[in-house]
Amino acid sequence: MEKECLFSGKKVQIGVDSTDDNYIMAIESSCDETACAIVKNGRDVVANVVASQIKTHEKFGGVIPEIAAREHLDSINIVVQEAFEQSGINPEDISAFAATVGPGLVGCLLVGLNAAKTLALVYDKPFIGVNHLNAHLCANYIDTDLKPPFMALLVSGGHTQIIDVESYSKQTILGETIDDAVGEAYDKVARLIGLPYPGGPRLDKLAQEGNPIAFELPISKVGGYDFSFSGLKTAVLRLVKSFDGRELPVSDICASFQECVSKTLVKKLKKAVEEKGYKQVVIAGGVAANSEIRKKVFALENEGYKVFAPPMKYCTDNASMVASCAYFNTNTFDDIDVEVFSRV
Ligand code: KG4
Ligand code: ZN
Repeated sequence: MEKECLFSGKKVQIGVDSTDDNYIMAIESSCDETACAIVKNGRDVVANVVASQIKTHEKFGGVIPEIAAREHLDSINIVVQEAFEQSGINPEDISAFAATVGPGLVGCLLVGLNAAKTLALVYDKPFIGVNHLNAHLCANYIDTDLKPPFMALLVSGGHTQIIDVESYSKQTILGETIDDAVGEAYDKVARLIGLPYPGGPRLDKLAQEGNPIAFELPISKVGGYDFSFSGLKTAVLRLVKSFDGRELPVSDICASFQECVSKTLVKKLKKAVEEKGYKQVVIAGGVAANSEIRKKVFALENEGYKVFAPPMKYCTDNASMVASCAYFNTNTFDDIDVEVFSRV
């Protein structure tokens, strides 16, 4: 695809049809990580820098948007500089600058977007705006030879979707959650049983020590490829209350919850890939770091599917996936006047 340099209007070839090597610098700042990366030709990471705000938000038990935005401001120059240093690449040799446009926290997104636009203007390069959800999917292109078509399960703090990826640019959402996202359910249940923020990974860790059939929790009956997790969350609340202040069997509750969630997700993913007749299955998003979901999805390899899941560092928010998305995905926002958005 041809993209235009912001000042000179010079055309640059970006993407799979480019004959020149593309080095894309991307910034991610949609939530509580300030990240910058440089990726060569959508697959080879030459720099990956992430400044996490977990320590800041831990004491509040969740992300405070105003504080997050201010921390992005403090970190942005540092992560950009660090990415240039890690890669040894000069700004002049970057093919395009990219940033997450949404969905995310508006004040946070503004920091990364404006930094990337400024870099593109200063160095007279194209600017590429990226959808955060598309970026999570594209984490699977990093260090692999994955090519569409494939069936994807996107599980993050804000979204739960089954996506039919027909080509790099054509994606259809087959189903999604009608209430809580999986990550949200993890974080809420973690809070219910007294685990500190960020709840998801902590719950996962405890679940590995517990008995997955200790408690029978309800599997939602929502039809098609849609999901619902609010009933499950309420069931855990009821279970916790039934202990009436006595010590909770925390690991067993975690394991039972994790079993119920992972079973539901993978069942629908399997049905979708079977129906479409694809041979490749992909998981993406922060919750794709979950041990049991990974285990169950990788078990599909025994049924003849090729399974892709990003390594942990590319599952949770990072900028390499944004750079990869800017390279592969034609559904980008290339207008310099693009505005951030909070929800899809
Ligand atoms: O994709 P992500 O980094 O941010 C969003 O775009 O939402 O996902 C963050 C979510 C949080 O809800 C977090 O608790 C969850 O991913 N998460 C996990 C695990 N690691 C992160 N949930 C369950 N098990 C994990 N190992
Ligand atoms: Zn994310």
